[in-house]
Amino acid sequence: MSSQDIPEENLPAEQDHAHGAVGVADEKNPFADPGLPPHEHRVQDIDERAAKRSERAVAFLFTLSMLATVGFIASYVAIPADKSIFVFPIGHLSALNFALGLTLGTALFTIGAGAVHWARTLMSDVEVADERHPIAASPEVRAKVHADFRQGAKESAMGRRKLIRNTLFGAVALVPLSGVVLLRDLGPLPEDKLRHTLWAKGKLLVNMNTNEPLRPSDVAVGSLTFAKPEGLEEHDEDFQNEIAKAALMIVRLQPDNIKDKRELEWSHEGIVAYSKICTHVGCPISLYEQQTHHVLCPCHQSTFDLSDGARVIFGPAGHALPQLRIGVNDEGYLQALGDFEEPVGPAFWERG
Ligand code: FES
Repeated sequence: MSSQDIPEENLPAEQDHAHGAVGVADEKNPFADPGLPPHEHRVQDIDERAAKRSERAVAFLFTLSMLATVGFIASYVAIPADKSIFVFPIGHLSALNFALGLTLGTALFTIGAGAVHWARTLMSDVEVADERHPIAASPEVRAKVHADFRQGAKESAMGRRKLIRNTLFGAVALVPLSGVVLLRDLGPLPEDKLRHTLWAKGKLLVNMNTNEPLRPSDVAVGSLTFAKPEGLEEHDEDFQNEIAKAALMIVRLQPDNIKDKRELEWSHEGIVAYSKICTHVGCPISLYEQQTHHVLCPCHQSTFDLSDGARVIFGPAGHALPQLRIGVNDEGYLQALGDFEEPVGPAFWERG
């Protein structure tokens, strides 16, 4: 097939691109500009069937990328993390890591390979010599850039090769999904764990120091006792997480001194149980003033009145300490009558 048989739209534009020598050697410039070599048409430029084959090859690579991304997600969901496989010559390795690496690598590689094949076989291959210009672009230059862009878009056949364009969009749109799926590995979802503590109806109040369940007689008037829920041990894996929510502060008041009606109802013989976690930014409260029944947070001096529903009487804390409703069981031990009715700790939790 000769160049005369080539459809006009398939021929690269050459009008502005000189070939052959364009300069002459002289005294000032002893080397003549050799110019660009003569342009040779590719088979895809002169044979529409070859162009179609290239188009299908590029679309196949982009489609392969989409399938690989789907395979990546499927591997992540379906392959157990502890499964291993033998891969020659590497040896035994994690099946999940192998599948994720293989599929993600394939997804990225085939997009690149498709783009390169597209550029090499179907986009215009005319070499372009661009003159250097001052940095500030004149209106004429901008107009030329726009014209060049439009010509490039036309020569890339983006509009005409809809199959390539659509599969490229699909491949590029799917690849980021791999990153989104990996976000799931940041850790287990908190679900509603942040809203609840280990306290539940019937859980015994255990002295944090002696590790023994508390009886009312163990709590003297004027003392401050720290308690944890029955069953929570220091060697437990999530001890720190749980105690940070469930730590309890127990004080015995004269029932006559309790001003808040709900506080009195939720107490037992003047024994009140409050969250030990400050509602400002979560420091553990540890200072009790028995004459005034005030507890003080050492971090920023928020002060709570335990005889009046632990309301804030000083400092930056936003709201009262949550109270735990308590009673005694048949054996005479102090027990919780449920979980806290509001989230413990800083006001952050109120937003949910
Ligand atoms: S954390 Fe308690 S006052 Fe700031």
